[in-house]
Amino acid sequence: MKRFAVIGDPIAHSLSPVLHQEIYRQIGVEAVYEKVHVSPDKLSDFMNQNELDGFNVTIPHKTTVIPFLNKLDESAEIIGAVNCISRGKGYNTDWGGFLKAMEFNDVELTEENCVILGAGGAARAVAYALIKTKVKSITIVNRTEEKAVSLIQWIKSRSDIRVDSSSLEHVNTSAREHVIINCTPVGMWPDTESVPLDLKKINETQILVDTIYNPLETKWLKQGKEQGAKIVDGLDMFIAQGLASADIWFGENISEIVDIEIIRDTLIATL
Ligand SMILES: NC(=O)c1ccc[n+]([C@@H]2O[C@H](COP(=O)([O-])OP(=O)(O)OC[C@H]3O[C@@H](n4cnc5c(N)ncnc54)[C@H](OP(=O)(O)O)[C@@H]3O)[C@@H](O)[C@H]2O)c1
Repeated sequence: MKRFAVIGDPIAHSLSPVLHQEIYRQIGVEAVYEKVHVSPDKLSDFMNQNELDGFNVTIPHKTTVIPFLNKLDESAEIIGAVNCISRGKGYNTDWGGFLKAMEFNDVELTEENCVILGAGGAARAVAYALIKTKVKSITIVNRTEEKAVSLIQWIKSRSDIRVDSSSLEHVNTSAREHVIINCTPVGMWPDTESVPLDLKKINETQILVDTIYNPLETKWLKQGKEQGAKIVDGLDMFIAQGLASADIWFGENISEIVDIEIIRDTLIATL
C-alpha cells in the first residue's frame, strides 16, 4: 500500500489527511495519508530516513526543505518554496491551486488591479500566479516593510507588471483595487475575531479572496459580503493544491475525475 503524508510544525489541525483520503476513496486507490509532526531540528532526520511515496510540506519547512532535494520543478525554483515532494523532487502546487480556485469561482484576473495582503510564502505563490495571468497591477501590503520591498523586487525582476507597496489605510479608502487577496494568517482559527484589513470602503465591484479556510468564512470575508463584495474562501485553493499533489504522485489527471463538491462537503463537515 502506498504511503503519503504532510509534515509541519504544528500539524495537528491539518485537513490534508481528510482531503487525500477522500481523493483515494473516490478514485478507488488503497493508500494512506498521515500527518507527521516534524520540528525544525528534526527535518534533516526526517528527510534522510522517511520511506514515504510522497509528501506535502507546510509551515515552517517550505523553504528549509529545499537543500535536501535533488531537483526542483520550475515554479518551485522561481517561488523558492516547496509544498509537494515526489522522489526527491520538489514542487509548488500552491500557485496553481490559487489559479484553479479563481477559475472555480469565476474570478477573472487578467488586466485587474490586485492587492496582496502579506509578503510570505503564500503571498509569493499568489504573486507568481498573478504574473502568469498578466494582471494590470499588484499592490503589496505587509506589516514588515522590508519583506514587502523584497517581494516587490522579486515581482519586478520577473515581469513588467506595475507593482508597489501601500499602507492598510490607503487600500481602505481608494476602492480602485478590484481583487484583494489575504495571504496572512490573520483571522485564522483560533484568532477568528481579527481581520487583516478594516473594510471601510468596499463595494460590490470588488472581490475579496482569503487563503484561510479555517474558519471557512473569516470575519473579514463576512464583513466584505455584508458590504456587497464577492467573496472567495481558501478551501478551493486548498483542495486544488492537494489534487495537483495527487496528480504528481499518481502520474494521472486525478483533478479531472474527482467530484470536487463532495470533497468540499467532506472537508466542511470536519471544520
Ligand atoms: N488555502 C491554501 O491552500 C493555502 C496555501 C498556503 C498558505 N495558506 C495560508 O496562507 C497564510 C500565510 O501562509 P504563509 O505560508 O505565507 O506564511 P508566512 O510565510 O509565515 O507569511 C505570513 C505573512 O503574514 C504576515 N503576518 C503574520 N501575522 C501577522 C499579523 N498578526 N498581522 C499582520 N501580518 C501578519 C507576515 O508579515 P511579516 O512579514 O510582517 O511577518 C507575512 O507576510 C496562512 O494562513 C496559510 O494557512 C493557504
